[in-house]
Amino acid sequence: MRRFDGRVAFVTGAAHGIGRAIAVRLAAEGAAVVVADIDGEAAGALAHTLAERGGGALATHCDVRDREAVRSAVAAAATRFGRLDVLVNNVGVAGEWDFERTDDEEWARQADPTLQGTVRCVQEALPHLLHAPGGGSVVTIGSVNGLSAFGGEAYSAAKAALVSLTQNLALRYGRRGRDLLGAGPGWVRFNLVAPGTVRTRVWTEQGAERLAELEKLARQYPLGRVGEPEDIAAAVAFLASGDAAWITGAILPVDGGITAGHPTFFYDLP
Ligand SMILES: NC(=O)c1ccc[n+]([C@@H]2O[C@H](COP(=O)([O-])OP(=O)(O)OC[C@H]3O[C@@H](n4cnc5c(N)ncnc54)[C@H](O)[C@@H]3O)[C@@H](O)[C@H]2O)c1
Repeated sequence: MRRFDGRVAFVTGAAHGIGRAIAVRLAAEGAAVVVADIDGEAAGALAHTLAERGGGALATHCDVRDREAVRSAVAAAATRFGRLDVLVNNVGVAGEWDFERTDDEEWARQADPTLQGTVRCVQEALPHLLHAPGGGSVVTIGSVNGLSAFGGEAYSAAKAALVSLTQNLALRYGRRGRDLLGAGPGWVRFNLVAPGTVRTRVWTEQGAERLAELEKLARQYPLGRVGEPEDIAAAVAFLASGDAAWITGAILPVDGGITAGHPTFFYDLP
């Protein structure tokens, strides 16, 4: 028996990078996966691959900035599979890193998909998650930028807000929280994974300078390397699964040790 046999997972931003690795991992562990992405073509290709491997898969062209698009993607998933057990909020958008050059429009360009996009997905998925037979589970992809200062105020503030959102929703939608609110039998666990630097196209497809930066960053990590998408997917699968049945409101750095302390206290960096 695999951990997600018979369960349905909705993964946003699932066509590339970390989201793709999460979709592949959950499918390998038995989940039917809804591949929700703004890149409909790549979402379709991944769903096709997952189906060829024998799993249930549905691609949906979904922009998390658009409430109606989220609503209809969740409805399509419920119609196709008849249930929703897991939501993974993986979409996050970084951009201008200079605070003084971050105008209102740029701030919203990063914050809206990252924070409000997550809120939209949770609100639309909740009615289904609350009926998940073993309890619903939401895992949100934050960042070490939401735990400590690494620059990029707009991106980091949105990621930090996801921490508070996760903790508040964990209390509100735990079984006890639901009982106190008099709102019925279902419950949903909310947890957040905070990755450090992960080797995806946001680093590898932005030119030689950015690639060099990635290699430089790798040397700063206590474990001596940056993360791979599969490192994040493994943690997400754990938190989404029954193995984490008594874990909610948790903020889990998956970061090669970078938030454990300051590396320069221990060794000279090149
Ligand atoms: N790569 C890193 O170093 C790193 C570090 C920490 C956290 N993260 C977080 O991990 C998550 C995934 O990042 P990644 O590196 O895999 O990026 P990526 O660009 O490889 O993948 C992002 C995916 O989201 C999709 N997407 C973008 N905007 C969307 C929208 N509005 N609606 C629906 N889908 C949309 C893209 O099409 C793509 O498939 C993000 O939340 C990011 O902030 C990444």
